[in-house]
Amino acid sequence: MLQIPLRKLDRLKPEPGELDRYEVASAKELRAWQLGQLAWSLKHAYDNVPHYRAKFDAAGVHPNDLKSLDDIAKFPFTAKADLRKNYPFGMFAVPEQRVARIHASSGTTGKPTVVGYTKSDIDIWSDVVARSIRAAGGRPGMKLHNAYGYGLFTGGLGAHYGAERMGCTVIPVSGGMTERQVQLITDFKPDIIMVTPSYMLAILDEFRKQGLDPRKSSLRIGIFGAEPWTNAMREEIEEAFDLHAVDIYGLSEVIGPGVASECVETKDGLHIWEDHFYPEVIDPDSGNVLPDGEEGELVFTSLTKEAMPIIRYRTRDLTRLLPGTARAMRRMEKVTGRTDDMIILRGVNVFPTQIEEKLLTIPALSMHYQLVLTKTGRMDEMEIHVEARPDAGSPDIRTAAARKLEKAIKDTIGITSRVIVRDPDSIERSAGKAKRIVDRRPQD
Ligand code: DLL
Repeated sequence: MLQIPLRKLDRLKPEPGELDRYEVASAKELRAWQLGQLAWSLKHAYDNVPHYRAKFDAAGVHPNDLKSLDDIAKFPFTAKADLRKNYPFGMFAVPEQRVARIHASSGTTGKPTVVGYTKSDIDIWSDVVARSIRAAGGRPGMKLHNAYGYGLFTGGLGAHYGAERMGCTVIPVSGGMTERQVQLITDFKPDIIMVTPSYMLAILDEFRKQGLDPRKSSLRIGIFGAEPWTNAMREEIEEAFDLHAVDIYGLSEVIGPGVASECVETKDGLHIWEDHFYPEVIDPDSGNVLPDGEEGELVFTSLTKEAMPIIRYRTRDLTRLLPGTARAMRRMEKVTGRTDDMIILRGVNVFPTQIEEKLLTIPALSMHYQLVLTKTGRMDEMEIHVEARPDAGSPDIRTAAARKLEKAIKDTIGITSRVIVRDPDSIERSAGKAKRIVDRRPQD
């Protein structure tokens, strides 16, 4: 693939004076701060949330038992089910009148998960998102097109407040109406876009449909998150738009976007904003804490949140903790997938991101794909529905691409699948998080 150098990176790197005092703190200073805040957060939860008091008591632990950071492992985990059980406001630690904002994540079934913020929480949230935008190369005065959904989802308003805090000019577009997204990008000339990576691909298609060259757009920085995406997809988007694509991570239960973010100068995983969120990685089966560097389930404890402190929240996201590079704070590797998105096909574990990585190696195939699960007799089967690129060529080329992908998957992941190459624009698009798995197996 022809590599044209991305627009100058140097100007996007922060000057030392632009970083805040926690970003330049030494590891020792950071650990001391974390210990003090962890003690505060555990006590705040225990004193003000009956659910935590009952759980700590049942486990025979008290906030005073925290003498070192490692003691956090003595405290019980919190899971999504705990939030559901306490629907809607049972996890709040402050009187309802002090809650300045409520968000909720819809989930696929049942009650939504509700989260609350005080004014100070929203302030901190704005700070961490502003820090993420700066890490991506954003600066005051830049225009930012925000295509994360506004509403109960934390993406839209979370990005919005952070961008305002950064001093950007915010264009609050929200998700959807793809033609209009392209028109606004063309007319308003934003420097930065914040959007899910899968929806960015839909915007890319629309550029091409309108006969516009995406490389000529004003966009220089893309801050993509809210769903797993691979380095292969990064390459695709950077190349297509001639912009820098960085990863932003977060979840509503912990705060929203801005829990961790990539730095544009390294693009080597996401720095966790550890002054506000204390990370652990655990073995998802045993619950034991794993040493840094080992892959497992990410767990977070909030260090500064008032309205809804969260203690040892099991994210279900799989990753590893790595030492800091562009910042002293630790990094998390790009999330491979969620434990709930793991497909077990005849004993082999597979994540959609593993398939995504393979797609880019085959020129006739686009990055729009879905995995369809079916059952024949007792056997689970997986079909990979993937769109051909508009310029893919003859049906023979498509067939050859399908066989090539099947072979690559068999050779590297070890599973047998059926690849179906579909026409461009035939797979469902989402204006937010992409739906990668369609489960058509009979439910028993
Ligand atoms: O998706 C918050 C967010 C908005 C993050 C905008 C980044 C940008 P939830 O709807 O609660 O919150 O979903 C959280 O999404 O546990 C992950 O499984 C997934 N996720 C979020 N960011 C990433 C990412 C928002 N960068 C869930 N990479 C999380 C992979 C991500 N997965």
